[in-house]
Amino acid sequence: MEKINLPKASKITSPNPVAIVCTQKPDGSTNLATVSWYTYLSYNPNMIAYAMAKSSYSGELVRENKKVVITIPSDNIKEIVMKCGMHSGRDTNKISKFEIEMQDIPTSNIKVPLHSAAAIQCKLKEYIETGDHYLYICDVEEVYADDKERAVFSWEGYSKIASAKEA
Ligand SMILES: Cc1cc2nc3c(=O)[nH]c(=O)nc-3n(C[C@H](O)[C@H](O)[C@H](O)COP(=O)(O)O)c2cc1C
Repeated sequence: MEKINLPKASKITSPNPVAIVCTQKPDGSTNLATVSWYTYLSYNPNMIAYAMAKSSYSGELVRENKKVVITIPSDNIKEIVMKCGMHSGRDTNKISKFEIEMQDIPTSNIKVPLHSAAAIQCKLKEYIETGDHYLYICDVEEVYADDKERAVFSWEGYSKIASAKEA
């Protein structure tokens, strides 16, 4: 085997999952950011975790108010995955700039993108420092899905967003 670095490994493991992390800004509106590094942790109780760079605005918001909805984008909104992953909500209102249509979910005041395949409403339990990221460990409160929407993944590392098809 050939010695490689960890970023290169993420190409080998692709398609990788992608989520849009929805957090609440101080004015009540939603910030959206793309996150590939998320994982289920436990079904009893229901728990999920995701890692975000220490500098992310989303991280600052969830550390402040403990609320986050992790949504899974569908191929109807695959263009927003890259856009939300290349701009920070600290200086960009991504929803208005990219004209992203939003919807309510029944039990959260955080709005989520229209055409999400799933929305996992969470409360932050704790976060731990993991190198240049923080790992956010969350209790899952509610889970919603729309089975008409097909989830997308990131291909060739993080360069292409598309649904997964059986070979
Ligand atoms: C496909 C894709 C996957 C990404 N995955 C992650 C991730 O898992 N963790 C992370 O910190 N940033 C990830 N990013 C980058 C963030 O989305 C990006 O830094 C974003 O600007 C953060 O926005 P915020 O400052 O509004 O939170 C990803 C970007 C793309 C395009």
